[in-house]
Amino acid sequence: MIETHTETLRDDANSEDCTAFGESIDGIAKYWNEHIHDLAIATHPVGSLGFFDELDAYRFDKLRYLPNLVDFSGFAEKRLLEVGCGAAIDLVRFAKGGAVVTGIDLAATSIELAEKNLALRNLEGDFQVMNGENMDFPDASFDVVYAHGVLQYTSNPAKMMQEIHRVLKPGGQVISMVYNTRSWLKLMSIAMGVALEHEDAPFIRTFTHHQFAELFAPFGNHRIVPERFPVPTKLHTGLKAILYNNVFVGAFNILPRFMTRWSGWHLMGFATKRETGR
Ligand SMILES: C[S@@+](CC[C@H](N)C(=O)[O-])C[C@H]1O[C@@H](n2cnc3c(N)ncnc32)[C@H](O)[C@@H]1O
Repeated sequence: MIETHTETLRDDANSEDCTAFGESIDGIAKYWNEHIHDLAIATHPVGSLGFFDELDAYRFDKLRYLPNLVDFSGFAEKRLLEVGCGAAIDLVRFAKGGAVVTGIDLAATSIELAEKNLALRNLEGDFQVMNGENMDFPDASFDVVYAHGVLQYTSNPAKMMQEIHRVLKPGGQVISMVYNTRSWLKLMSIAMGVALEHEDAPFIRTFTHHQFAELFAPFGNHRIVPERFPVPTKLHTGLKAILYNNVFVGAFNILPRFMTRWSGWHLMGFATKRETGR
């Protein structure tokens, strides 16, 4: 099982058994109902178009790599599911590109925001509160499953990946992202004693390259790309902001990427379900 190898940021993140499973899922839903991702940066009223645009701008400034690795316009007519869709910031991009989108999330507040986000843009999507470890969809329902920033927050990432594999059509692909144990951000947080975002979540894990590769066992293939290097942030203020934004970010990015690639905070993982449906 992946958990025996997966490093956790907190000891209790490893404590799972079958009886605790239901409670764990309830705990995850409760946490994420109260902690919408990136909400802290928003200045517009929650649920307004300005709010969603602000989240999009913030996200794609921070995750500059994402449009280079994920062709949001490349899935026209394809049935695309996002597991742990949050406020559907990425799903809007897929829907604009012509994909037929479905979003699920454990948090009802996320699903409400996701529905609003698409409706405000006259886009269509199907949204449901659902556990990505135990989905209601029949086998082979989707051409693409996108799971960015969710496997690390669920109680059993291997079970979620098995479900992703099950709901994919043969030949379908998964696009996923987890946090990298051997990364600049993890090292910096340890060195500076600074908590990582959502470190108080019921479950949060980091993965080595090898541990992430193990998650793709149902697929029998995978490609992993470390990404997400330091960019200036608005989250810090004062001396901390000056040191981080002007000194650290600048110095890090002077180094050639081939030297620092291993340390990307995000491990992007891609795999294809075999045509035989293995
Ligand atoms: C850090 S947020 C990421 C949201 C979005 N994918 C993004 O990248 O902005 C993690 C999301 O995963 C959801 N989540 C965690 N475990 C889940 C599970 N087992 N099934 C469905 N959603 C889950 C949470 O409710 C939360 O909305």
